[in-house]
Amino acid sequence: MMESPQGTSLVGVRLLTPADAEAYHSVRLQALHEQPPAFGSVPEVEPNLSETAARLAESDECCFFGAFQDEQLIGIIRLSRYSAPNEKHRAYIAGLYVLPQFRCRGYGRVLVSEALSRAANISGIRRVNLTVVTQQEVAIRLYQSFGFHIYGTEPETFSRDGQFYDEHLMTLELNSGNDRNA
Ligand SMILES: CC(C)(COP(=O)(O)OP(=O)(O)OC[C@H]1O[C@@H](n2cnc3c(N)ncnc32)[C@H](O)[C@@H]1OP(=O)(O)O)[C@@H](O)C(=O)NCCC(=O)NCCS
Repeated sequence: MMESPQGTSLVGVRLLTPADAEAYHSVRLQALHEQPPAFGSVPEVEPNLSETAARLAESDECCFFGAFQDEQLIGIIRLSRYSAPNEKHRAYIAGLYVLPQFRCRGYGRVLVSEALSRAANISGIRRVNLTVVTQQEVAIRLYQSFGFHIYGTEPETFSRDGQFYDEHLMTLELNSGNDRNA
């Protein structure tokens, strides 16, 4: 458990494991149903429970963090590292989501902070990237507050219900001193 940035409540954030598959799957499905959409994926192509459990097993390339209130999973984020030898200096965060009824309490900020701390502690990672739907202004401001900046915008990244959505490409330089091929 850690204190929230506002210092007003205790925010529980930890690495997720395969044992969290059911809770993660449920939160993720809620995320994919939300409007305006924040994610390109759709519920029909989401991994099933056993595939989800396999994904939650921590690896060198990928890990998931969850925010908890009273042992209920209420927020999620994924940190992935590119695996090709000439791309391992880059990581990306994805899938940030906090259930609507738990927003504005510091969970989103702590989830991003945990993912970035993790990336900063992995030798060789110099940069963290992400993409974010241009309508998700709260998320964009949150990322900017950590130093991410927008370096491009991809038009019509995905569609839903006949409408097209653009995404900003954002990047954060973590540690330019790290060995490029570490
Ligand atoms: C983005 C998201 C994860 C933020 O979660 P959260 O738990 O509400 O975030 P926090 O409580 O840590 O708030 C982060 C900042 O956003 C601000 N904020 C949160 N909700 C806000 C709102 N509706 N309007 C204005 N500001 C808001 C907070 O004041 C805080 O700013 P501060 O730290 O300078 O005070 C959440 O809104 C969400 O799940 N959105 C939909 C999914 C999404 O957009 N994901 C990003 C995919 S790339």
